Amino acid sequence: MTIPKKTLRPIALAAGLLMCACGGGTRNQATASNDVVLPAGVTQLTFPKGFLFGAASASYQCEGAWNKDGRGLTNWDYLTQTAGFANGETGNVADDFYDLYPEDVALMAKMGIKSFRFSIAWSRIYPTGFPIQLDPVTYQPVLDASGNPIPVAPNAAGIAHYNNLINLLLANGIEPLVTLYHWDMPIALFGMGGFANRNVVNLFAAYAQTVFMAFGDRVNYWLTLNEPYGECVDLDGVMTIALKSMAGGGSVSLSSLLAEFKMLSSDEMLGLQMTDLHNYLYTSSLATMIYHQLQAAGAVKAGGRIGPVLDLHVPKPASNAPADLAATQLVNAATNDMILKPLVQGVYPADVVSRLQAEGYTWTLPQTQIAEDLAMMKMAGADFIGVNYYSRSTVTSTHTDAMFPIFGGLGSGPFFNEGYSYNLTTTPESTNGIYDPQGFYDTLMYVHQTTGGLPILITENGCSYPGEDVLDTDGKVHDAMRTRFIEGHLKAAWKAQNDGANILGYTSWSLLDNFEWMFGYGRRFGLTYVDYTKPELTRTPKDSFAWYSNVIQNNGLPAN
Ligand code: FCB
Repeated sequence: MTIPKKTLRPIALAAGLLMCACGGGTRNQATASNDVVLPAGVTQLTFPKGFLFGAASASYQCEGAWNKDGRGLTNWDYLTQTAGFANGETGNVADDFYDLYPEDVALMAKMGIKSFRFSIAWSRIYPTGFPIQLDPVTYQPVLDASGNPIPVAPNAAGIAHYNNLINLLLANGIEPLVTLYHWDMPIALFGMGGFANRNVVNLFAAYAQTVFMAFGDRVNYWLTLNEPYGECVDLDGVMTIALKSMAGGGSVSLSSLLAEFKMLSSDEMLGLQMTDLHNYLYTSSLATMIYHQLQAAGAVKAGGRIGPVLDLHVPKPASNAPADLAATQLVNAATNDMILKPLVQGVYPADVVSRLQAEGYTWTLPQTQIAEDLAMMKMAGADFIGVNYYSRSTVTSTHTDAMFPIFGGLGSGPFFNEGYSYNLTTTPESTNGIYDPQGFYDTLMYVHQTTGGLPILITENGCSYPGEDVLDTDGKVHDAMRTRFIEGHLKAAWKAQNDGANILGYTSWSLLDNFEWMFGYGRRFGLTYVDYTKPELTRTPKDSFAWYSNVIQNNGLPAN
């Protein structure tokens, strides 16, 4: 079971890295044919009362203040400051949301949003990631006189910061949607292999419990971990190499990291992805279970709900030929079912598992452990499913290569559905990121059907078109393509709901332009423009901001 080395293309690696469901936004083209068809005679698309129109963010992407108030170092500090990712750009300052949040909450209130999604930086709560004292140099536990580890209280400044943010949101009538983990992890835990290491999973459980106890009296919507696919497929390769570099005490360039990454065998890559994906999903369920237990004990809000944030995108067959339909089904199973089914039904999709077995692959985790974990995951369930959607791929059956790695390391494998995959797609617009609201509708209906009608919270949807997000001479940002994008996707959400999906809200990515991972500040997804040339990081609402605000005010939009 080997992947031909030629299939690991460096350009794809660099571009696909952490692109996840999103980076393709830069290639979006408005093709009318991908719009949903609305029922005849409907003129106004009204959403249910209380629908959570919102905007999203994530800690590392917007907070900045990287060394303030006791925040510990994270994987992303390492990747950007030391390993030279994102072309030397870092999230050190980003939008300085950490300091400027009062101004930004005022902006949210002006927009009229009903909800705001943000993530808590683990490293602000437990700076080392450990709820026990660690030696700052060796990271070994500091022991008391009897040889026991010394517990540490969570960082009071970190707790205070999020308390202030949550309280201010609530005072403005904005529902906080709180993500526990959006890809920034204390550096020591990154050094332990991240979620691929079960000890990290347990440390996360301790952190989650602390966070629930601190804010659970006010927060109604909790989101566990962001995008399993994005984290476990894209980030893991980076992690592995970065770990090696850290272990050697060195700093390395991105190109040498990627070169080394290419040397991983398909077995190593697949093992890494499978283990990490399983643990990531397990961790999400563990947090869910802990939350529900605290709820049963009356320690958090009775009506509070918790769910995962999943990067789902139902692929479309290139034709109705049976072979294309079968290939599409398999891609769907390897991507969407592989995430959704274990979380909700406590099973991995049989077609993917049998494919793995047929190829002679044995999971690196013991089968008994997987079975036990799945049973717990089924029991933990989810109160709703968070869905991130940006685009989807078109699948043909023409690939003849080996099936592995099943998830496609950094965009190189046959199942990789964000584009850049060889032989998976044939049309130029399917390389990635086409404008495809019909795909959004299909995805929402798929979630609705696969989960037996669980509520859905749209946790991310957005775009970034090159050249569009510029301050014009009139001092405004005329982002007509973004407005068009949101409009098309809101229509799709409305239609899904009209067809029975229980959709709690729509969260636009993002409130502000921000640090877009691998791409640094080169990709802007915000409803609000941030001027990085100004020390005060001036915010300018874009045209889409006003348009969205109007939709929220009317709790809907015209059908035409
Ligand atoms: C998603 C990520 C989010 C952001 C958008 C554009 O995949 O969850 O942090 O980068 O893409």
